[in-house]
Amino acid sequence: MRAVVCTALGDESTLALAEVPPPPLAPDGVRIAVRAAGVNFADMLVISGKYQFKQMPPFIPGFEVAGEVLEVGPEVTICRRGDRVMAVPDFGGFAEQVVARAVHVHVIPQSMDFAVAAGFPVAYGTSHHALVAKARLQAGETLLVHGAAGGVGLTAVEIGQALGATVIATAGGPDKLAVAMRHGAHHGIDYKSEDIRERVKALTDGRGVDVVYDPVGGPVFDASLRCTAQDGRLVVIGFASGTVPQIPANILLVKNLTVIGYDWGAYRRRDPSVLRHSYRQLLDWFDAGKLKPIVSQRLPLAEAANALGLLKARQATGKLVLEL
Ligand SMILES: NC(=O)c1ccc[n+]([C@@H]2O[C@H](COP(=O)([O-])OP(=O)(O)OC[C@H]3O[C@@H](n4cnc5c(N)ncnc54)[C@H](OP(=O)(O)O)[C@@H]3O)[C@@H](O)[C@H]2O)c1
Repeated sequence: MRAVVCTALGDESTLALAEVPPPPLAPDGVRIAVRAAGVNFADMLVISGKYQFKQMPPFIPGFEVAGEVLEVGPEVTICRRGDRVMAVPDFGGFAEQVVARAVHVHVIPQSMDFAVAAGFPVAYGTSHHALVAKARLQAGETLLVHGAAGGVGLTAVEIGQALGATVIATAGGPDKLAVAMRHGAHHGIDYKSEDIRERVKALTDGRGVDVVYDPVGGPVFDASLRCTAQDGRLVVIGFASGTVPQIPANILLVKNLTVIGYDWGAYRRRDPSVLRHSYRQLLDWFDAGKLKPIVSQRLPLAEAANALGLLKARQATGKLVLEL
């Protein structure tokens, strides 16, 4: 089968299209003919050796896929040959075939095309579980979402709106903000030209926001600490800015503020049933037209390196997907 192989740790130039044998099928495995694979910021971390779980080359990156089931292991009851599914394998998604454990495979609605499904599980799964189970976002509360036109950010905007929160989106530039507004944000802050703290204060009558969703880190995180309401919750999702922030504990104390670390991958490994609950709700919302996933670019498998380059250059809106 054709696959994109990481040949050495480094940047995206270490990726090469190669012919490799298909992966073996485990008893609890589902073999999927991949039709599309989602591209994630974490793919960049994996190939550069900076991801929390190190992979040694040669390996095939790719955490999320959609496609058709080719065969299932004897223990699998959740799907069968011919089903249309999305899945989150450990690695190996940038290939014509992947084997995922059945607990990480989800049948998709007929109305969901493969490219949308390939970009769905990581971003929507992360934002739903982080906002509902961890931050306990309530209807009527105010949610501040950073990087709001990015892969995970845009899903947090839509989910916040679906949960009945007032959503304030931040992004770099008017075009990205316009996307976040079209997807349900009530207010937008351009962090290239506006002061987050001042704008949030003005938009919330000085009260601050109840929940912050932060996949960016760096100065954006620092500003967030200073514009939360009493009893606020700040969810640490990632550090797309490249800077891991430090937390001055005095701010937590005076604001009764809770900073919550969130790693979707840990739940995926530890208790995938929790995430299945998220997907039930999310796929219902998708069917009801409440979620409108954006796939901004669809590239052929051979262009995996270009796709990662686009993410790095902040050229993506919503998700980037490789199609096969
Ligand atoms: N905790 C979890 O379970 C989990 C799950 C998924 C992803 N993540 C993390 O969340 C972060 C975002 O992932 P993603 O897949 O949504 O990536 P993405 O689509 O590239 O979005 C990241 C956003 O961050 C903003 N950004 C700010 N500074 C940046 C920089 N120096 N380089 C690139 N982008 C920058 C960009 O928006 P502007 O241009 O508008 O600033 C971009 O839209 C990553 O750190 C990823 O590892 C964590």
